[in-house]
Amino acid sequence: MKNQFSRQDYERIAAFIAERTRYRPRVAMVLGSGLSPLADAVANADSLPYAEIPDFPLSSVIGHAGCLVIGELAGREVMIMQGRVHYYEGYPLEQITLPLRVMRAFGIDTLILTNAAGGLNPAYQPGDVMLIEDQINLVGMIGHNPLMGPNDAALGPRFPNLSDLYDRGLRQLALSVAAAQGLTLHRGVYVGLAGPAFETPAEVRFLRMIGGDATGMSTTNEAVTARHSGMRVLGFSGISNAAIAAIDTDQEASHEEVLAAGALITPRLIALLQGMLARWDEAASP
Ligand code: HPA
Repeated sequence: MKNQFSRQDYERIAAFIAERTRYRPRVAMVLGSGLSPLADAVANADSLPYAEIPDFPLSSVIGHAGCLVIGELAGREVMIMQGRVHYYEGYPLEQITLPLRVMRAFGIDTLILTNAAGGLNPAYQPGDVMLIEDQINLVGMIGHNPLMGPNDAALGPRFPNLSDLYDRGLRQLALSVAAAQGLTLHRGVYVGLAGPAFETPAEVRFLRMIGGDATGMSTTNEAVTARHSGMRVLGFSGISNAAIAAIDTDQEASHEEVLAAGALITPRLIALLQGMLARWDEAASP
């Protein structure tokens, strides 16, 4: 499998997708574990299985459908990645971030990331939704950053600024829509880990100490790559479980629990995202 890509590859794959859909959306979303049903809310969809898209990575994880769904949500054109691949599946970061580069070449300028995450903040309950205000890319900080390697300046800067990684205008719109819907939307810091093992209690206490509110095994690499390419980025964590911070509690973390919480989180996120799209013009364009 190819794992070194150039701008020509991104443009080639974007052109392939453009031939398969009548839509030209500028907003894209990535759906995390258990959140796939959100794509069912898309009207008049053109669906492309990842397996049919050249060089697209295929997820091996239950709960990740592997389909690009392009259509209308709340009257606005959107591109939805129903399922994603993760670092723990063994994919190199070039593969994990390929779909984002392709989206940018396609014309996407705003990316909304969603994930299922463990709640580090003791105030969070399974089923809650957190607006990602900022992130700690722990995997990137120890030397696995998706932007390592040669930099094509036509794609983005060598040393991108990330002080505004999650877009302020979009975050404000999300909070305003949530307030209007009576949805409690936490605001917090997402910590990106490699996984696939869940954290030990000592690791959970460490992640709390460094300022994390929620943690999971995705999102941070995608956010960095999308921002590098000039996209506006927004992110939501669906809290699927409380990360276990003490030993000898008899509590356990499981993927089943993560998928089950999706049933609570999905309708909340659908309403929030539809509400945002309906008021989209309030968030200034990039
Ligand atoms: N830890 C890491 N990743 C996760 C968790 C968790 O508790 N829940 C869902 N994804």
